[in-house]
Amino acid sequence: MTTNTAPGTLGRIHRLLRSNWLTSFGAALMTFTLLALLTIAVLHTTGGPWTGPYAGLIVALVLPILFALGLVCVPAGLFLYRKQLNERLAAMADRPVYLARAVVVITAINFAAIATLGYAGVSYMGSTMFCGTACHSVMEPEYVAFQRSAHQRVDCVRCHVAPGAQGFIESKLNGTKQLLGVLTDNYHRPIPTPVHNLVPARDTCEQCHWPEKFLGTKIKVKPHYREDDAVSSYVNVLLMYTGGTRPDGESVGIHWHVHPKATVEYFATDERRTEIPWLRVKKPDGSHEVFTTPGVAAEPPAGAAIRTMDCNDCHNRSAHAFDLPEQALDDALAAGLIPRDLPAVKRHALEALKGTWTRDNARDQIRQHLQKAYASRGQLDETTRQKLEQACEQVAAIWLRNNWPDRKLGWNSYPDLAGHFGCFRCHDGEHRSPAGRVVFGPPQSADGTVPRDEASCVRCHRVLSENENDPGVLETFGIRR
Ligand code: HEC
Ligand code: HEC
Ligand code: HEC
Ligand code: HEC
Ligand code: HEC
Repeated sequence: MTTNTAPGTLGRIHRLLRSNWLTSFGAALMTFTLLALLTIAVLHTTGGPWTGPYAGLIVALVLPILFALGLVCVPAGLFLYRKQLNERLAAMADRPVYLARAVVVITAINFAAIATLGYAGVSYMGSTMFCGTACHSVMEPEYVAFQRSAHQRVDCVRCHVAPGAQGFIESKLNGTKQLLGVLTDNYHRPIPTPVHNLVPARDTCEQCHWPEKFLGTKIKVKPHYREDDAVSSYVNVLLMYTGGTRPDGESVGIHWHVHPKATVEYFATDERRTEIPWLRVKKPDGSHEVFTTPGVAAEPPAGAAIRTMDCNDCHNRSAHAFDLPEQALDDALAAGLIPRDLPAVKRHALEALKGTWTRDNARDQIRQHLQKAYASRGQLDETTRQKLEQACEQVAAIWLRNNWPDRKLGWNSYPDLAGHFGCFRCHDGEHRSPAGRVVFGPPQSADGTVPRDEASCVRCHRVLSENENDPGVLETFGIRR
């Protein structure tokens, strides 16, 4: 019998990996990352901090990078120190086939490992949890607003990343830039809007919403409250002509703009797209009509960034709507969250909301402000004190979900364009075609108010009631106030 003094396959691989420092380092790194991954996987099942965003960041980003580094070091070392390698290979030349087979198997295992790691990482990075909380100091305002939006169940990436490989790569490049910005504390405060490289709506919104859908006419009831002691209420009721494309192919109403048979293009002279001196309506037959403000040429200036209007030119806050203080209070009063029988609660709450607080002291300051306001009204009974307490909580909550002074984000940092402010950028009665046709709209007067022009109002909506304390129309529609 011959005793085989040559080592077994594993022994050979071990030798191979030890043949130089670089290869050894790579092998150690790969072993470490795999063990770390296994450990985190086990800890993950125990809950606690291991399910949080930072563990995710390690699993998704740090470990795969270390693993890939190890994977590169192994062959690099073998190549750089090929002399030692040859010597070692010569020493085990009697069983080369096993060696080759083992290398193939181990490589396959490595590929499987990196693919799993990569997949886990990619799907984690596409999750709302990652987007909303991993860089939480930066995205916190959007994440907070998002959780109250109609799109609360739509992952961030559905609107922020184009579908397909190209969108994926672009988003990763962009994300890396942003990550560097966060790490070096070098990012804009607040994050400027509109987001100029936002994915066009046809690749995001229109994957779920069919632009031609005929939404028809919708009734919109908007309760408001006054600042008087009685907190008197009034209601605005609108019939919104949202429209869309009718079954006969005719496109009408507000959603006319997204009819595929007519595109509206424009350019803005400011970053925020609030000044729009030039627009053009294009028809599929190639014809077009240009509208400009007085003194602006019909030909756009060379190099002007012309934008095709889409959903986001109106619904810019579909996922992250921040409030205005008056509107937020009206909503809270209408919902019964703030007790309306506290005298002048809207006035006092508005003052409290407009104070310059910090995120740390807002809750206390708002409470003190309101308590002071009611202290002058004499001794409060127990129920009133409880109601005041409830109001303090609600008012503070409103402030806290709309104000991040450390990043200069406050009331009206991000105006909603799906209302007069957005529409009147074009519908101000000032945009004319060379033939003298005007984009309808009530002209703005010098003091910024909108003169009454019923004819133009009803192109967008019919105002069924405005500033009415007890509109009969509510009864007609069976709506309880
Ligand atoms: C339904 C689509 C949609 C979803 C879902 C969505 N966003 Fe947005 N987001 C937008 C649009 C549209 C804008 C551009 C706003 C503008 O131009 O005024 C935007 C803007 C932003 C901005 C820029 C700052 C700002 O407030 O405008 C950030 C940051 C952001 N989103 C983060 C997120 C995060 C984090 C999530 C997931 C928690 C998310 N978004 C989910 C549509 C969406
Ligand atoms: C993944 C699918 C999906 C995507 C992507 C999506 N939406 Fe929606 N959207 C919905 C659903 C579902 C609702 C209805 C939610 C409800 O009524 O509870 C909705 C509701 C809305 C509403 C009504 C809002 C409200 O407050 O009632 C608007 C406006 C809207 N979406 C616009 C957009 C815009 C603009 C985009 C692109 C930036 C977009 N959506 C992207 C699924 C989506
Ligand atoms: C010209 C501005 C404008 C454009 C462009 C626009 N919308 Fe709208 N949309 C509105 C207005 C205004 C309403 C009515 C708002 C209301 O009822 O509060 C509305 C209503 C809606 C509603 C119904 C909300 C409801 O509760 O009835 C949905 C959904 C919607 N839009 C989605 C979209 C999508 C998706 C696109 C892009 C394909 C789009 N919109 C393009 C202005 C616009
Ligand atoms: C970027 C410019 C622009 C913005 C912003 C804009 N519109 Fe328009 N809108 C136009 C143009 C251009 C027309 C076509 C006018 C014409 O041909 O007379 C139009 C037409 C309309 C029509 C008539 C559709 C029909 O049946 O003929 C309605 C209704 C309308 N807009 C509502 C709105 C509302 C509501 C908003 C805001 C939420 C809005 N628009 C924002 C440019 C704009
Ligand atoms: C270009 C289209 C357009 C024109 C023209 C227009 N509006 Fe509006 N209006 C809107 C939109 C969009 C909203 C927002 C609806 C919503 O909040 O969902 C709105 C909201 C309102 C509201 C409700 C405000 C609130 O929050 O209670 C009133 C009142 C109103 N409009 C009155 C008028 C009057 C009066 C005119 C004519 C002088 C007029 N509008 C002209 C598009 C228009």
